[in-house]
Amino acid sequence: MKTLVLCNQKGGVGKSAVATLLVHLLAHRGRRVLAIDLDHQGNFSKPLRLSGRAAVSAIASDALLTDRPPPLPDKPCVLVPGDRALLGLERQPALHTPFARNFRSFLGAVEGAFDVCVIDTNPNPDIRVIAALASADFVLSPMQLNQEAMDGVSGLLNHERVGLRKIKAVLNPKLALIGLLPTMVEPTPFQKANFVQVVQQYHPLMIRIGDGPGTFASIPRRSCIAEAQAEGAVLWEMKKTAARDAWREIEPSLTRIADIVTGATIHRTEADHAASA
Ligand SMILES: Nc1ncnc2c1ncn2[C@@H]1O[C@H](COP(=O)(O)OP(=O)(O)OP(=O)(O)O)[C@@H](O)[C@H]1O
Ligand SMILES: [Mg+2]
Repeated sequence: MKTLVLCNQKGGVGKSAVATLLVHLLAHRGRRVLAIDLDHQGNFSKPLRLSGRAAVSAIASDALLTDRPPPLPDKPCVLVPGDRALLGLERQPALHTPFARNFRSFLGAVEGAFDVCVIDTNPNPDIRVIAALASADFVLSPMQLNQEAMDGVSGLLNHERVGLRKIKAVLNPKLALIGLLPTMVEPTPFQKANFVQVVQQYHPLMIRIGDGPGTFASIPRRSCIAEAQAEGAVLWEMKKTAARDAWREIEPSLTRIADIVTGATIHRTEADHAASA
């Protein structure tokens, strides 16, 4: 089983939407998928629940850190939803090390039952994010093309608690950064200029798709993506032409990410080299 964490300390950048799309894509491609929602807001749990495509575990995800949880449903796609109890974990600092250890043991225990585990995280740099990054194989960072988000990239790498360099050096040397995924991209002059700036500034952190110059993974802003999240619909199965068009636009980016996670692409990513440097 390979474990992917979606993480960015900025809120509302599309982490949960991308996580949901990836779960549907991986399941559609025949992978056994475990979805874990570490955000009490439940914006990953809700669309997966509504979709009816995931068996929902009886326990919520806080139990994966605090307890020795009971077995999960024996199904090819399983959701461990988030709930408000997740909010209490940060307030128990004496237990943070056992929390991270329990989470790692849990992932080890389900290793043979799933091919991929997708973990959605909350935007605060707390013990949930640390526990997820401390045990994961890959991290993907959705980001918006505005100035604060671009300034936030250095925090992703260098934050004193959850920065990827620190996590790799101290807790999890195998963690590989897949890269930055610009989301909600709009064809405005402002965003186009910001895209160019991100590519110039963080070139090694971008996720290359295809061989052409300047072809990097990104997700456009499309109202049908928000609708799919709200309704629990699978984007490419929605009746509207706009939804199928949107899927056609984002499929190469998500497929590339899915291929990296499932090992169809075995090289260390360029971004990971940059994160280690
Ligand atoms: N590509 C997109 N196009 C249009 N709307 C989108 C897109 N991606 C996400 N959204 C919508 O934007 C809002 C924020 O997205 P999402 O919940 O995925 O962000 P997040 O990073 O998970 O937020 P948080 O930090 O609060 O967890 C949601 O209403 C979602 O449906
Ligand atoms: Mg979210």
